[in-house]
Amino acid sequence: MAQINQFASLDRVDSVAVITLDNPPVNALSAGLRTGLMEAFRQAKADPANKAIVLICNGRTFIAGADISEFGKPPQGPGLSDLFGAIEGGSIPVVAAIHGTALGGGLEVALACHYRVASPSARFGLPEVKLGLLPGAGGTQRLPRLVGIEKAMAMITTGDMIGAKEALDSGLIDEIETGDLRQGAIAFAEKMAAKGGPHPLVRDRNDKMIAARANPGVFDEFRKAHGRRWRGQMAPNHIMKCLEAAVNLPFDQGIAEERRLFQELVNSDQSKAQRYFFFAEREAAKIPGLSPDAKPVDIKTVAIIGAGTMGGGITMNFANVGIPVTLIEQDQKNLDRGLGVIRRNYENTASRGGLTADDIEKRMALIKPSLKLEDVAGADLIIEAVYENMGLKKEIFTKLDKFAKKGAILGTNTSALNIDEIAAVTSRPDAVIGLHFFSPANVMRLLEIVRAAKTADWVVATSMAVARKINKVAALVGVCDGFVGNRIMRARGLQSERLLIEGALPQQIDKVLTEFGFPMGPYAVTDMGGGIELGWRRRQETGAKNFIGDSLAERGRFGQKAGKGFYHYEPGSRAPLPDPEVEEIIKEASRREGIERRPIPDQEIFERLVYPMINEAAKILDERMALRASDIDVIWVYGYGWPLWRGGPMFYADLVGLKKIRDRMLELQKLYGDVFKPAPLIERLVAEGKGFADYKAAA
Ligand SMILES: NC(=O)c1ccc[n+]([C@@H]2O[C@H](COP(=O)([O-])OP(=O)(O)OC[C@H]3O[C@@H](n4cnc5c(N)ncnc54)[C@H](O)[C@@H]3O)[C@@H](O)[C@H]2O)c1
Repeated sequence: MAQINQFASLDRVDSVAVITLDNPPVNALSAGLRTGLMEAFRQAKADPANKAIVLICNGRTFIAGADISEFGKPPQGPGLSDLFGAIEGGSIPVVAAIHGTALGGGLEVALACHYRVASPSARFGLPEVKLGLLPGAGGTQRLPRLVGIEKAMAMITTGDMIGAKEALDSGLIDEIETGDLRQGAIAFAEKMAAKGGPHPLVRDRNDKMIAARANPGVFDEFRKAHGRRWRGQMAPNHIMKCLEAAVNLPFDQGIAEERRLFQELVNSDQSKAQRYFFFAEREAAKIPGLSPDAKPVDIKTVAIIGAGTMGGGITMNFANVGIPVTLIEQDQKNLDRGLGVIRRNYENTASRGGLTADDIEKRMALIKPSLKLEDVAGADLIIEAVYENMGLKKEIFTKLDKFAKKGAILGTNTSALNIDEIAAVTSRPDAVIGLHFFSPANVMRLLEIVRAAKTADWVVATSMAVARKINKVAALVGVCDGFVGNRIMRARGLQSERLLIEGALPQQIDKVLTEFGFPMGPYAVTDMGGGIELGWRRRQETGAKNFIGDSLAERGRFGQKAGKGFYHYEPGSRAPLPDPEVEEIIKEASRREGIERRPIPDQEIFERLVYPMINEAAKILDERMALRASDIDVIWVYGYGWPLWRGGPMFYADLVGLKKIRDRMLELQKLYGDVFKPAPLIERLVAEGKGFADYKAAA
């Protein structure tokens, strides 16, 4: 065996050259690996004794993608197109032997080979779209030649992976090897060599492209079906252009088009935002400064108190991953209702093909209903999700302190109550933590983990581990009013209401934000979630008033479920329609304040909604309520619909430039008051010529 370099070696078995790659952990296509691979192909092809070549990887996977740390840096080593020239040149067949995941550039390498053999558990995908990119090494041109245009559109615009069976059925691979992959691939290579050439290259297989030309409408149909989801995003639209080129242009011209469109994406703010976010999400999982002894403990059983909107969804998260849950309610009626909702949710998923009847029963069997708080006794983790009422929560935590076993974590799902105050009624405030799930809790990925004053490090570490286990994206935050996400949302909400009173309407405000990329505007969201009623009931308890909210509630405008809220809804439809009654209420609100309504430009609406968010976020950072600016972006993308391809509010602020934002805020401050007074952190960063990305909390 010849070692070519650190990453590649060359071996011969009978008449088959075997190139083995080894670049743990995922055999990323780094410059060193490309150099070794290219040299291995050169040597293998130079030896006339070799009748075929097998390319295989050591470790847990085939090449699982590009080395994304190389993006945006000057290129080093051979490019992929040179490498593919080396793979495709000559007449002997090249067989890729694939196990694990062939992803991105890795799958593109496999596509440059003549044949592909894979383990039954192998998976295949071109996930570049998830980073705002497209497969830029021929993936958009070669994949459709093997699998056809429809399958290629589905795979490349979603970035989702397919399994070996689907890959075989669609023509992506030639054989599934159920035994030893290396031996199987060598045998396959010998068979192909014996059969004799020519061995067509994927680039020359045009039959599926010619067939696609007969149905030119296929692209528009696909765009029509998915265009709403792609709104504002460059990558999926560029991918479609590449696929059209695959069908309509000769291969080399298609490659040139792919190259051009890839360059546009790589330099775009959208892809920069998505690559930034990829790292932001991973960073959020790291908690600096935890004591090294603070090891996460294993959570084997969970108890949830309250089977309402949140408790039910939280319960599902645990049952979904096989963790038994005791679900405790105050009375049989609420317990039955809660269990019924959980079952219906599972049945809905099953009806869409996501679960089998057996799965539903298994998950339901993991949920043990109870009416006794004492039943928390066996749980390693307890999550309270009863009504948002301090007296009630204190009562529950006093009892939990009595019933919970030593070493249990006492979590609360409160949205706004002071967790230090809740912790103080127990004899073990170090075990108390906020676990702030978002509604619907079985769907929303975000979990704000709220560290209270006395929360122990192991409780934080365990909560972060639990979040991962139940497939949530967690961010650690501190105790303050609204924590991080809702506190920033309130800053936006206050301005939004001022804008209504000065002259805007809900539909204009929603439009400004959906055009920016939010999936829905705040008023449509309020109608969907029942926020008008919630706010109204809360104000009735506190005696507070809000003319617009109260007027809507008094007219029974409780949102979508009532057929009317900030909008009007036709029976059976969720489409929000502007409503003259709402306009009248808003105008009356302006009259009552003596304000003459004026048309407000979209740009002003946008700045007045978003700049207070950025300002509030800066205060949150200065108060150490979030660990880093990028955590705030993770919270807003996963919890509040900030478009991922815009990176989050902090990334956005840096992109616009903090100085520009600060200067505009000073103008707005003169007009609309101190909510626009730039936060001290913004002033400091501007003075230093820095952005949020440079911000590091003082140790
Ligand atoms: N709804 C949301 O969007 C949302 C989001 C995040 C956090 N939260 C918070 O989650 C908590 C629960 O909210 P929700 O929307 O699920 O409320 P909900 O009214 O839907 O459910 C509360 C449940 O708690 C039960 N309950 C009340 N007292 C109890 C007791 N003593 N013992 C056992 N069960 C009892 C009730 O019967 C009810 O089923 C609140 O603290 C809320 O602020 C809500």
